[in-house]
Amino acid sequence: MSKETSTNSYSSPFQQLIFCRLRTHQWCFILFNVALFHILLFGADLMEEYFLQAIPTTYMDTKVLRARERARILDMSSMKTNISQGYVISDSEACSNREIFLLVLIFSSPQNLSRRDAIRKTWANVTHIQGYATLVLFVLGKPSSATAQVEVIKESDQQQDLIQGIFLDTPENQTLKIKRAIEWTVTFCPEARFILKVDEDMFANLQTLVEYLLNLRTHPEDIYLGRVIHPSIPNEEFRNGSFTSVRKHPGQYYPDYCSVTALVISQDVARKIYVTSREVPPSLPPGVFVGVCARAAGVVPIHSSRFSGERRIWYNRCCYKYIFTSTVSETSQLLQEWEEMKGDEDCTLLETYYGLVSCKIMTYLEG
Ligand SMILES: *[C@@H]1O[C@H](CO)[C@@H](O)[C@H](O)[C@H]1NC(C)=O
Ligand SMILES: *[C@@H]1O[C@H](CO)[C@@H](O)[C@H](O)[C@H]1NC(C)=O
Ligand SMILES: *[C@@H]1O[C@H](CO)[C@@H](O)[C@H](O)[C@H]1NC(C)=O
Ligand SMILES: *[C@@H]1O[C@H](CO)[C@@H](O)[C@H](O)[C@H]1NC(C)=O
Ligand SMILES: *[C@@H]1O[C@H](CO)[C@@H](O)[C@H](O)[C@H]1NC(C)=O
Repeated sequence: MSKETSTNSYSSPFQQLIFCRLRTHQWCFILFNVALFHILLFGADLMEEYFLQAIPTTYMDTKVLRARERARILDMSSMKTNISQGYVISDSEACSNREIFLLVLIFSSPQNLSRRDAIRKTWANVTHIQGYATLVLFVLGKPSSATAQVEVIKESDQQQDLIQGIFLDTPENQTLKIKRAIEWTVTFCPEARFILKVDEDMFANLQTLVEYLLNLRTHPEDIYLGRVIHPSIPNEEFRNGSFTSVRKHPGQYYPDYCSVTALVISQDVARKIYVTSREVPPSLPPGVFVGVCARAAGVVPIHSSRFSGERRIWYNRCCYKYIFTSTVSETSQLLQEWEEMKGDEDCTLLETYYGLVSCKIMTYLEG
């Protein structure tokens, strides 16, 4: 008690010190809240990216090593000669032994010509990024009607950017579509360093994606990149052991896989998946199928939260300059957003920061 009275009797410099201390506390409180806000906002993404840096060597048993060796010596020359048995439209010269840094395969349905035209006009209208060649192709199956097929042939003659497999383009045949696309790639585009598989209802920022791929520090092999999904439903097929090379996997769950809406693989992974795909049941959903094939060759998915998966990322110009993909279902919306984005003005650090915070919060609120 007496101490306090004596404190109060101190002169003004000491009071100022208390005032300063209080202010320090206030500052601490504010900073703490700002930090907490950012941790809540971005922490999950950072943690995910940190913990999903998987170690490929974990799964290297002799079976895996044999698959990798088969992929290395894979010879597709016999495939080239009878390609017409697998494809209605296939421009075998599309890559013509050029160095292609990024091959973009857009999975489209035969009837969606207007969507393809919108994509051609917007994010896919690039041939080079930072001096590296990109090539954009659409992958289709067959439409159910003959008249629609006539339209597809006409479009192909004009645009020269279609690959069409011999199978009906139905939701059930999407795994077959991926298989065909990978087969086509390893046969006719073995020089492409990376392959982006993306659905037609997406926006993809090829510029930032290429920059990211150029900056990969590791040797660009075994790249299988996307929004990683951890399946939680045990799978009957694994449990029964009908698929032997995956049976051993922990917990008898599907392995982790990249959301099939958009994913990037390196050329060697395309070959590995092609080699192992013959042993994997084609009845699996397409994303799982790719994940299982990759895992059978010792390739584990790498997560990046810049892929949106199936979500739509709330539109903000600077946010869209940072992310890799977002779902944009409405074609008119894609055209409109592109119109606003395409200007070359860069985003300042502050604008990017504001864009990321706002699109993160709005995406969260809308979802
Ligand atoms: C190409 O021919 C070989 C041998 O004749 C056959 O095994 C293969 O399945 C054929 N490819 C396609 C796509 O039909
Ligand atoms: C693609 O962009 C170029 C300009 O960079 C433009 O001249 C061309 O018309 C565009 N192509 C399409 C299909 O819109
Ligand atoms: C998948 O494609 C094959 C070959 O065209 C066709 O026979 C089959 O009916 C298709 N499956 C479905 C579920 O549409
Ligand atoms: C593509 O076409 C199908 C049916 O023709 C339609 O259901 C779907 O919404 C279309 N997708 C886009 C992105 O336009
Ligand atoms: C797995 O085994 C259960 C019964 O043990 C059976 O009902 C189910 O059909 C089997 N699944 C497969 C894919 O073989």
